[in-house]
Amino acid sequence: MNEFVNPALVPKVKLYTGEEIPCVGMGTFGSDRFTPDEVSAAVGGAIRCGYRMFDCAACYGNEDQIGEVFHHAFEEGVVERKDLFIMTKVWNDMHDRVEESCRKSIADLQCEYMDMFFIHWPFPNYHAPHCDVDSRNPDSRPFSPEEFLKTYRQCEELVEKGLIRNIGISNMTIPKLEAVLPHMNIKPAACEMELHPCFQQQKLFDYLVAHNIQPIGFMPLGSPQRPERDMCPEDVADLQTPEMKEIAAAHGVHPAVIALKWARQRGQIPIPFSIHEMEYVSNLKAMTEDPLTEEEMSRIATLERNNRLVKGQVFLWEGANDWHDLWDEDGFIVK
Ligand SMILES: NC(=O)c1ccc[n+]([C@@H]2O[C@H](COP(=O)([O-])OP(=O)(O)OC[C@H]3O[C@@H](n4cnc5c(N)ncnc54)[C@H](OP(=O)(O)O)[C@@H]3O)[C@@H](O)[C@H]2O)c1
Repeated sequence: MNEFVNPALVPKVKLYTGEEIPCVGMGTFGSDRFTPDEVSAAVGGAIRCGYRMFDCAACYGNEDQIGEVFHHAFEEGVVERKDLFIMTKVWNDMHDRVEESCRKSIADLQCEYMDMFFIHWPFPNYHAPHCDVDSRNPDSRPFSPEEFLKTYRQCEELVEKGLIRNIGISNMTIPKLEAVLPHMNIKPAACEMELHPCFQQQKLFDYLVAHNIQPIGFMPLGSPQRPERDMCPEDVADLQTPEMKEIAAAHGVHPAVIALKWARQRGQIPIPFSIHEMEYVSNLKAMTEDPLTEEEMSRIATLERNNRLVKGQVFLWEGANDWHDLWDEDGFIVK
């Protein structure tokens, strides 16, 4: 029997549109480790445990299996469609065919409409699955505001057609946002970005909050099991830091739970992934009990190490220096 956390007890976050969404969601990127069936089974278990928000993506290769699970949950009356907040993303190779991508995700996920639809990366640079991190696609190119806005306009049309409720952006930077925000008709409601104790992106976080764009934090636990291609010798393991371990011991929980409490209390929506019931239940419960003290929050704030884990090397264009070029670190869009 699954342990049940009453969704009514999970705090909500209000988007600028007035819509209220759960303060935690479940990630569904199985990486190279889990099959689509394992991930979708976890989604089914999570719904029964009280999760109401799911972060999907076309490129995760498991939307049709997750859709079957949603369908059964609706059929069996476990949950109604309106009670779920379902998010997906258009992959880089579909920036010219956003509606087609969205309709396919809606059909695969069997969810009638999408609550949030993200542009997964702000450029159409495509790479083959499992390619080498040093490979370059000759078609890849730097960010172009005009090109991005062409893709974004297609998302605005999806809102007008009632296919999606909110537009999201992902893997953005302040210079890129400065270039495109003034030209948008419908503002993005959320930005999905890498956020964990050793990578807090404070400036971008503050910028988003100031613009009423809700930060959604991916890899909230520092993705301890991420694929080897995303591991670098200098990376810091967030959950292994003495500070996280000590705070966890004081609360009698795993450091993962502390990372999620920190995320929520700071104001981002974390989307942790796990296929293990014990873990995903504790990740949901983390939102409902035993908050961190101000002192603990301040202590975790000191863990910032600028430790970006998803560097994005595979999206680089020919002539680019290295992955830093993707993130506009000097305050200018790197051309
Ligand atoms: N927009 C984007 O570009 C983007 C990029 C990356 C990720 N994402 C989204 O963010 C989600 C989360 O990222 P992620 O899966 O890479 O990283 P994560 O959520 O930070 O870490 C997931 C791993 O942490 C472990 N874990 C989870 N709960 C735990 C608990 N309570 N106690 C101990 N360990 C626990 C699990 O390891 P075990 O499996 O070994 O138990 C799991 O594989 C993805 O699934 C995806 O939806 C989006």
